Amino acid sequence: MTHLVVKPADKITGEIHVPGDKSISHRVIMLGALAKGETVVKGFLPSGDCLATVECFRKLGIEMESRMLNVERRAQELIIRGKGRRGLSQPKGILNVGNSGTTIRLMTGILAGQDFSSEITGDSSIQKRPMMRIVKPLREMGANIEGQGSRVKGQEEVYAPLLIRGQKIKGITYDLPVASAQVKSAIMLAGLFAVGTTQVIEKNKSRDHTERMFEYFGIGTGCEVSGMREFEAREINVPGDLSSAAFFLVAALITYSSQLTIHNVGLNPTRTGIIDVLHRMGAEFEVRDEQIISGEPRGTIFVSRTFEHSNIRLKGIKIDGEIVPRIIDEFPIIAVAATQAEGITEIRGARELRIKESDRIATISSELRKMGAKIQELDDGMIIEGPTKLKGAKVKSYGDHRIAMSLAIAGLIADGETIIDDTACIETSFPGFEKLLHETLV
Ligand code: S3P
Repeated sequence: MTHLVVKPADKITGEIHVPGDKSISHRVIMLGALAKGETVVKGFLPSGDCLATVECFRKLGIEMESRMLNVERRAQELIIRGKGRRGLSQPKGILNVGNSGTTIRLMTGILAGQDFSSEITGDSSIQKRPMMRIVKPLREMGANIEGQGSRVKGQEEVYAPLLIRGQKIKGITYDLPVASAQVKSAIMLAGLFAVGTTQVIEKNKSRDHTERMFEYFGIGTGCEVSGMREFEAREINVPGDLSSAAFFLVAALITYSSQLTIHNVGLNPTRTGIIDVLHRMGAEFEVRDEQIISGEPRGTIFVSRTFEHSNIRLKGIKIDGEIVPRIIDEFPIIAVAATQAEGITEIRGARELRIKESDRIATISSELRKMGAKIQELDDGMIIEGPTKLKGAKVKSYGDHRIAMSLAIAGLIADGETIIDDTACIETSFPGFEKLLHETLV
């Protein structure tokens, strides 16, 4: 099993780029495959999760070609030879999404309205993740989807492998019971193949990359889609992933004299909860050069800590309510920052963390506790008391990339050596993480 050894550091320095945005990379493969003509993607993320999406579409008969644009930045150009809205063909074998929840949920939406049947599954973590949240609305649209059933707390639940018998489906209006971009997107993608109009209504806004990309391809605006329309391929440029940048941003903020610039980072307002929360905690950094390319905002994050700043501590805050979906993937690294903040950080309304790649409330709490952190688990969040001097320990990722990277950053400020077990999972979202970390620790 791979592991990562991290030693204490007092600063991280450099001008860096992080790999492309994972959510946008998945969506561009899907829409590129369904568009007519060649979609050229600049800055595509060649990580395990996105490559699983590529392989699934290859099995559905779509040709794709990739070229490394910049080895250091892991930036790839991907060319997708789209065959139009009705261009997918019956896959020969089972579609395998690996560890990627976004792939299985969004693709199930696409597969529901095809004129062929398919089976889709993933690794052991995927087979434990709830699928009823997409199966229920898709069945309302007329889809025929079967999975592995069970009852959880009196409710019917369904898990992968999913058997999808392609059907004629119809548009619906659906009120999202949980803030989930994966559920919203699965329904909107199914809507492309449905008779009539499909609309998703959400109380708390989740990431809106699907809506932005639908608009960019000229399919529609907002969460509404009229089915049966063809659309043309377009060139698209993917920004760096803010969820990946977050590890380096927090690293720079909790070490002493860091000077760090992160270029071309996605700044979609439905994703920038981490920036708002860190500012509320009293962190000093700037966001500059904002611009919109291919419908997605991006800019530069600039951290310059002098010894004067090193006296300014982060302070504990309460995180709850509408901001939760805007920061959903960043709670593990926020927990690390909170161990260094003065006072109590209270996270509530984040029960969704329990059904991510791991139960992130349980996994980050138990591993940071091994390093000396004071964390209390709540059913829907955590209470973290700081500041605590962390100590090096032997910790594990539970096969969850964001837990692995958060613990690596915690290791930078711990006394002694931190050994993180089971770190191959980092490849699912951030190829080159370890190398980039070493390069910034000069
Ligand atoms: C994602 C949506 C979020 C997020 C995941 C990526 C997406 O999941 O946690 O990493 O690309 O749509 P949920 O929709 O389950 O909140």
